Amino acid sequence: MSVTVRVPAKVNVQLAVGAARPDGFHDLANVFLAVGLYDEVTVTPADELRVTCEGPDADQVPLDRTNLAARAAIALAERYGRTADVHVHIAKDIPVAGGMAGGSADGAGALLACDALWGTRASRGELLDICAELGSDVPFSLVGGVALGTGRGEKLTALEVGGSFHWVFARAGRGLSTPAVFREFDRLGEGLDIPEPVASEALLAALAKGDAEALAATVSNDLQPAALSLFPELADTLAAGRAAGALAALVSGSGPTTAFLARDPASATKIADALRASGLCRDARTASGPAPGATVVSDGRIRSV
Ligand code: C5P
Repeated sequence: MSVTVRVPAKVNVQLAVGAARPDGFHDLANVFLAVGLYDEVTVTPADELRVTCEGPDADQVPLDRTNLAARAAIALAERYGRTADVHVHIAKDIPVAGGMAGGSADGAGALLACDALWGTRASRGELLDICAELGSDVPFSLVGGVALGTGRGEKLTALEVGGSFHWVFARAGRGLSTPAVFREFDRLGEGLDIPEPVASEALLAALAKGDAEALAATVSNDLQPAALSLFPELADTLAAGRAAGALAALVSGSGPTTAFLARDPASATKIADALRASGLCRDARTASGPAPGATVVSDGRIRSV
């Protein structure tokens, strides 16, 4: 018997970052939107914990116990006094080290899959607590949809959304390390007065209305200058997407994936074609959101948990 869970990627439509806290993390006002690019995590009983991965970026995924999927299986097993004796297989479609929460998705997916496989029936609150221990973005990967993350991003409030938004995501030629981007944010902000991060009322209203043009006018990412400082060529990719008709172009989270908001699915296809033809990125994909969070999809049938 095995259990497969499908988990979405995310884009941050607002990422407001405060000053570094004493623990090194940053307080955020982080508006997450889950989008329809997915990793699938399958867990199968095994003699001992083992992680394997397939997909275009599989060679960049650590297969040891630093993998968030392995850490999730261990965390749940420890809580329920059992061994994490599973084979975790990740079918990876979300860019690795791309700013789209691919590692977090695998953590949330493995957690939900092990819970179903072992019949632990942990409550939603318990699962969210384990997610928050695993990483700042992991709780959102579990719940999906649209949410505001505060604290270091792990305290979630669901947000109202009035429609679907159509996106293009351009995969860059290399990854960026999230801690390195936050360090660059600190370096660029040295000596400056960094305001408390606050969610934009205009952005929340645009989401609630499902209004892509209003959303495009309000998206923001405080990590973008840091990501561009470490990866200046991303500015050319952003410009190419804008020239192809994107309503907004921004770095996704800590990058280096770039995200382009399109007016409609046809425009998204056109922007993706132009980005591919530009040679400025490794790949460009269309996806819309909000998408549902981690979902058990064993045997090809979607089951609610
Ligand atoms: O929580 P997570 O392990 O995903 O965070 C990865 C790194 O990103 C942290 O070690 C920290 O350097 C940085 N980070 C931060 N402030 C946050 C979230 C992440 O500085 N709110």
